Amino acid sequence: MTRIADGLTDPLPPEVRPGKGPVRVLCIGGSTRPGSSSETALRIAAASAERAGAQVQLITGRELMLPIYDTESPVRTPEAARLLTAICRAEALIVSSPGYHGTMSGMMKNVLDYVEDLRSNERTYLDGVAVGCIAVAYGWQASVSTLHNLRVAVHALRGWPTPLGATINASDKPFTEDGTSCCDESVQFQVDTVGAQVVEFAKMRRSAAATIAQVSDAD
Ligand SMILES: Cc1cc2nc3c(=O)[nH]c(=O)nc-3n(C[C@H](O)[C@H](O)[C@H](O)COP(=O)(O)O)c2cc1C
Repeated sequence: MTRIADGLTDPLPPEVRPGKGPVRVLCIGGSTRPGSSSETALRIAAASAERAGAQVQLITGRELMLPIYDTESPVRTPEAARLLTAICRAEALIVSSPGYHGTMSGMMKNVLDYVEDLRSNERTYLDGVAVGCIAVAYGWQASVSTLHNLRVAVHALRGWPTPLGATINASDKPFTEDGTSCCDESVQFQVDTVGAQVVEFAKMRRSAAATIAQVSDAD
């Protein structure tokens, strides 16, 4: 067990501070079901981010089965500590949730609740972090409402939802039987774009930070 108060996440070691090496993208999502469609979509978006030059880390499916976020205790399980450290190190995120009863799954919401532990970090919550959101449900209504709810939560955490979010209707069977790839052009386009956009935004943010530093040096 780790105590958040012991400086688990902040300050970041110099080698993982923004601006060094390839852009770091953390991909979180899937359901408790191994090989879930929300995890497949996430993996395809992650591959797109990698093609755009990012270093990608995935934390998926049952790895995200964390205890309910506890406001009354500073103690975190090793799995929760790993997730929080990965979030701190990421310059961009991709989140993919199944639609449960019209919104994100409880597991995904619980993961986002853990971001509360980053409230006093040097980078508060997801401040300035591009977040690509993907919602997969068994119909259009729930996929659209789930995407909306993901974006609302990300926005509340000061993240920057990407202009394109992906809505996927699993009843259209957009993925191959083995769950490794996509057989629907429009779904492929959406998840590829989400993956590319988070990298593009993280790179823009890096160059903006460098420009701001130059200008203040010149002052
Ligand atoms: C508890 C629960 C609630 C669900 N609620 C909805 C819903 O409201 N609307 C819908 O279209 N699909 C709903 N689904 C179906 C999932 O969204 C669907 O299985 C989708 O493929 C994502 O699941 P997966 O990532 O595990 O494959 C629900 C599934 C479960 C287990």
